[in-house]
Amino acid sequence: MKKLILAVVATAVLGGAPALAGVQQAVTYVDDIKPLMERRCYACHGEYSPTFEMFDADKEKYAAMMVGPRLNSYEQMMIVVSGAEAGALMRRLDDGANTPDGQPGNMYRHLGNDDEERAPNLQLFKNWVGHWTLKGAAELTDEDRGQFKVLERSN
Ligand code: HEC
Repeated sequence: MKKLILAVVATAVLGGAPALAGVQQAVTYVDDIKPLMERRCYACHGEYSPTFEMFDADKEKYAAMMVGPRLNSYEQMMIVVSGAEAGALMRRLDDGANTPDGQPGNMYRHLGNDDEERAPNLQLFKNWVGHWTLKGAAELTDEDRGQFKVLERSN
């Protein structure tokens, strides 16, 4: 009911703009992903987390401390989308719909307090990545690479 009222109000305010969804901007790192990650991920992937280099040198120590690699910039995120650790972001965040064993990735739970909250956040990541493949760097084809959207900011 609340949603319906909101939709009616929004339509009235926008003067019945054609297709509300069409008004929506493309998902970008700066406007959408970073703010979401600040809330849900930076406790373990923020400025106090080790760089990938440091993390890789002592994975077990950091994992035991519940600290993940620093993921607080666009460049670092590209590493886990299509760089050296390609697909890591998608494998970790997937809800189980695309994983070989049907189990969610181990960062999926951090997307929200329950599945209802996780679903739209996962969808936001999916829209941002644009090509939800779980393939690693060696398996990615040029065609795969061409399908990633991963906008940094809106122009
Ligand atoms: C409670 C701490 C914690 C939170 C919150 C958390 N992570 Fe993690 N994350 C870790 C730890 C620890 C690791 C490394 C151990 C492992 O590989 O599971 C990790 C690993 C990862 C990796 C794999 C990096 C690599 O290449 O090895 C990705 C990608 C990732 N997290 C994304 C996220 C995202 C996105 C969020 C927010 C939705 C998030 N994490 C929230 C602790 C956390």
